[in-house]
Amino acid sequence: MAGSERGTPEVPVFVQTAVEIMPEDAWQQVGEEEARLVYEMALRNELSGGTPVVRQFEQEFRDTIGTRLCLTTCNGSAALYSAYFGVGVGPGDEVITPSYTWICTIGPALLLGARPVFCEIDPRTLVMDPADVERRITERTRAIVPVHLWGSVCDMDPIVELGRKHGIPVIEDCSHAHGADYKGRKVGSIGDVGAFSLQGSKALSAGEGGALVTDDEEIFNRACLIGQANRWGLDLPGDRYQELQPLGLGMKLRSHPLGIGVALMQLRKLDALNASRGAFVAEVEAGIADLDCLEPLHVYPGAKRGGYYAFPLIYHPERNEGVPTAEFLARCAEAGLKCGDGWYPLLHQLPLFRDGFDVFTRNRGPLGEGYRGYRTGDLPVTEDVRSRLVFPPILTQPKPGAAEAYVRALRRAAERA
Ligand SMILES: Cc1ncc(COP(=O)(O)O)c(C=O)c1O
Repeated sequence: MAGSERGTPEVPVFVQTAVEIMPEDAWQQVGEEEARLVYEMALRNELSGGTPVVRQFEQEFRDTIGTRLCLTTCNGSAALYSAYFGVGVGPGDEVITPSYTWICTIGPALLLGARPVFCEIDPRTLVMDPADVERRITERTRAIVPVHLWGSVCDMDPIVELGRKHGIPVIEDCSHAHGADYKGRKVGSIGDVGAFSLQGSKALSAGEGGALVTDDEEIFNRACLIGQANRWGLDLPGDRYQELQPLGLGMKLRSHPLGIGVALMQLRKLDALNASRGAFVAEVEAGIADLDCLEPLHVYPGAKRGGYYAFPLIYHPERNEGVPTAEFLARCAEAGLKCGDGWYPLLHQLPLFRDGFDVFTRNRGPLGEGYRGYRTGDLPVTEDVRSRLVFPPILTQPKPGAAEAYVRALRRAAERA
C-alpha cells in the first residue's frame, strides 16, 4: 500500500542494493538459496549473536581470504572502526589514506580522535602511491590504509615494506575488491588486518554487513572488545575479552545473522561472479585497446582484480583533440552508453577536511589542534586523474552481445572528434 493510502506522507524510497541492474545484465544477486536460508533462520529464531550461520560464514570467509581469524560486523564502517581500534589508533594519531576513497574509509578513525593525512594515488591504477605515502609518514602515523578502490589492487609489497620499516600497521580496505589477489594471496590477508563492506551493492552482499580478517590475535581481541559486547562464539575469545564480558566496552557493532545468511550464500558464488565480471571487463578493454584516448586500469605485476565494484577507464582529452571529459561523457550517452564520471568526491576538498573538525570537537583536543586543513591543489595527481574518469556500467552476467555494444558505443564516442 502506498504511503498516501495509509494516511502517511509520500516519501521517496531508495533501495541501495544491486536491484538497479542494467537491462543488458541477466544477473539476479539474491536468489532462491539466499531466500530459503533466511526463511529457515527466521523460523528457528536465529536472529541474534554468534549463531551457527554467522560462525559458518566467519569460517568460510577466513578460509577464502586465507587468514586465521574473522569477525563479522554490522557494516564495513564498523569493520574499519574495529580494525582501527584493533591496531591501537587513538587521539592525536595520524592515518595515511588516499583522498580518493569513500568517506567511510577514514570516518571511523576520526571517531577515535585520529586525523587523516591524505596521500596521492597512482594515476594508472587509482590506488595509493607508496612513494607518496613514505613522504607523509611522521612520528604520529599510526596506520597506513590502502584501499583497493573499484577492485583495483594496491601494490602491497612496497606498502607492507613501509609499514615494517616504520613500525606502522597496515589496514587494507577491501570493500570494493572481494576475492582480488596479489601475488597469490587474497587482499585482506596481506596487511596486518583487512576490512570488508558487505553492503548491498557490493560483490559480496549481506544487505548491510561487514567483516574483519587478520592473523594477529591482539588486533582480533581488541576488535572484539570494541564492538562485540556479549557475543559468544568467536574465532578467538581472547583473555581480555572474556574478562570484560558480558558488557565489553559497551559498544555493539555485531552483525545481523539474517544478513550474514545472505552473505554466506553469496560467498559460495563469489568466484563465479569474479570470473564473469572479469571476462566482461577484459572483453571491453580488449575492444578499445587501440583507442589512444581511453586507458584501461593498469594492474600491478602479480595482481588480479576482484570484486569489480566499478569499471573505470582513464580518459585523455589531449589525445582526443582536447575534447573535455564532460563532452566525452555526453558523446558516450549519445552513442547509447550512459557512463558515470568520478563518482566519489575527493575527501580533501570536502568542508570537513578542508577546514577542520569543528563538527566533532569544537576545535578542542588533538583532532583539531594545529590542523592545517587542505586546499584544492594539494593533491594535483589525484585531482587531475579524478576529473578524467569514465565509468561504463559494470555487468555481471552480460546478455549476448552486451560487451560488443559497449565497445561500439565507446568507439563511436572516441572516433567522433
Ligand atoms: C571504500 C569503502 N570503504 C568503506 C565502506 C563502508 O562500508 P559500509 O557502507 O558497509 O559501512 C565503503 C562503502 O561503500 C566503501 O566503499
